[in-house]
Amino acid sequence: MLRDLTGEERAAYFRGILPIWGGGLGDERFQQFQRRLADAPEAQDRYRLLGWFEGGALVAALKAYDLHASCAGRRLRLLGIGAVFTPPPLRRRGHAAAMLRAAIEEYRQRGAHAALLFSDIDVGYYERLGFHQLESRECSVDAASLPVPRGSFRAAMAGDEDRMSEIFAAARDGERRFGLVRDGWTLRFQLRRLRELARARGVGEPEWGVLAEGRGGDGAAMIRFGRDTVDVLEAAWSSDSARECLMGALRDCLLRTARLRLRFWPAGQLRGLFRETSRGSAIAMLAPLDPSVHLPGRGAPAELALLDHI
Ligand SMILES: CC(C)(COP(=O)(O)OP(=O)(O)OC[C@H]1O[C@@H](n2cnc3c(N)ncnc32)[C@H](O)[C@@H]1OP(=O)(O)O)[C@@H](O)C(=O)NCCC(=O)NCCS
Repeated sequence: MLRDLTGEERAAYFRGILPIWGGGLGDERFQQFQRRLADAPEAQDRYRLLGWFEGGALVAALKAYDLHASCAGRRLRLLGIGAVFTPPPLRRRGHAAAMLRAAIEEYRQRGAHAALLFSDIDVGYYERLGFHQLESRECSVDAASLPVPRGSFRAAMAGDEDRMSEIFAAARDGERRFGLVRDGWTLRFQLRRLRELARARGVGEPEWGVLAEGRGGDGAAMIRFGRDTVDVLEAAWSSDSARECLMGALRDCLLRTARLRLRFWPAGQLRGLFRETSRGSAIAMLAPLDPSVHLPGRGAPAELALLDHI
């Protein structure tokens, strides 16, 4: 049986995934972070923690997202799947596979056109469940490859969410390739994730974005910090000079925070600017659920940015 996890079940799931996705947090802080994210207003109706129960016992769990996408001009609904987990003693009995099939079936019945996940394990496992790989590339850029800052830019602040969403959405206007829609939800949810993570780590408002604003156009980038990298979750601009200003701002951010490289997935306007290499993890995988809908085939390009990584 598949159902939403309740209090103690959620805690058991969070304890299980802590060593894998804990980001260096201790148990108590990780629990607090995950609980707050799951209970956040942004999570409502869009983010669930689902468990697979056999004989009343929780044997596997996952995160299920209600995602909105578009492909060839058509709006689509997707089941997004993350953090699939079976406790080590219960592995290799088919629990995760049974849970994935049940979750996919539930969302298909609710009108989902496809399921999307980012695989960190051998993709053959998900291929056997009906998924195929999409183009999965990344860019890693050092400060020397970025322009010296020119023009005016500033750190994003609380209240900038709508403006940034507008800049991201404008850049995707008319996009026919498969990608998640830029209606603001993904940005707000990921920002909530960054804020709750910062809170769990005991720091205040995280540095989460840059805005380039000038007469020559606007640009925006949403960022987060890795150990050695500044990760660009999404970036967009309205003119060449706004792009140069934004790239300069990101260079400034790298130098100021002593990070070595800018890391991002080449999607949207970030595509084609820098050398790309294949990703070794977070491989994008799609399972079509509605044969009448056009979706990208095996290896086909997709406009998925780090912002979409769930
Ligand atoms: C992946 C995972 C959820 C599978 O759970 P499970 O209940 O054992 O899954 P099933 O019984 O349905 O399938 C077992 C299959 O998983 C696959 N599998 C498990 N871990 C794998 C890994 N690290 N790499 C590749 N395949 C893996 C194998 O094909 C295995 O089949 P086998 O027993 O014939 O070798 C479980 O191993 C787990 O929780 N791992 C840690 C979290 C994780 O990596 N999740 C996936 C993130 S994309």
